[in-house]
Amino acid sequence: MIVNIDKLNKDLKEILSNQRYLHSVGVMNMCEKLAHIYDVNVDKLKAIGLMHDMAKELSNEDKLKYIRENNIYCTDIEKKIVDILHGKIAADMCKKRYAFDDEMCTAISIHTTGKENMTMLQKILFIADKIEETRKYDGIEELRKLAFNNIDKAIIKNIDETLVINIRKENLILEESIKTRNYLLLTSEI
Ligand SMILES: [Fe+2]
Ligand SMILES: [Fe+2]
Repeated sequence: MIVNIDKLNKDLKEILSNQRYLHSVGVMNMCEKLAHIYDVNVDKLKAIGLMHDMAKELSNEDKLKYIRENNIYCTDIEKKIVDILHGKIAADMCKKRYAFDDEMCTAISIHTTGKENMTMLQKILFIADKIEETRKYDGIEELRKLAFNNIDKAIIKNIDETLVINIRKENLILEESIKTRNYLLLTSEI
């Protein structure tokens, strides 16, 4: 697989709003920084950082249509939280259009919730999405520092905070988030 970032960049600009395009560039830049720290393939990380949200701005109707037409498996809860499907759709698009490999496609597919036993590449996309330079929320500086020192701890902290927000809002919770958190608590040295 040869990654041509210029081509990806050009394609992405045509399908996303400016704000989301800037978020995507922010994730790409953060992925690049973290790739150097954790010694992971920089080109692959830049490519998935840039393209992870390529399906985010499809309408709910189009997301469900894409899932149906491309036989993508999803749970009943995922079909209720339609927006969550943007990861699985982008992964499928990146595989078919750009021949991204399985590890990269899985990273894109699960970038919102994480999963058990993530590779370092997958962990980096997950956290880069939450701490990239255009994001602003209370505690982000602390989370950025943590991501550079102990990525597992940073992921757990982000999941904890997101769970609290979703519980307060009485939102549905995806069990993958809980599985990711438990797996990291059981396996990482914290
Ligand atoms: Fe996303
Ligand atoms: Fe994102």
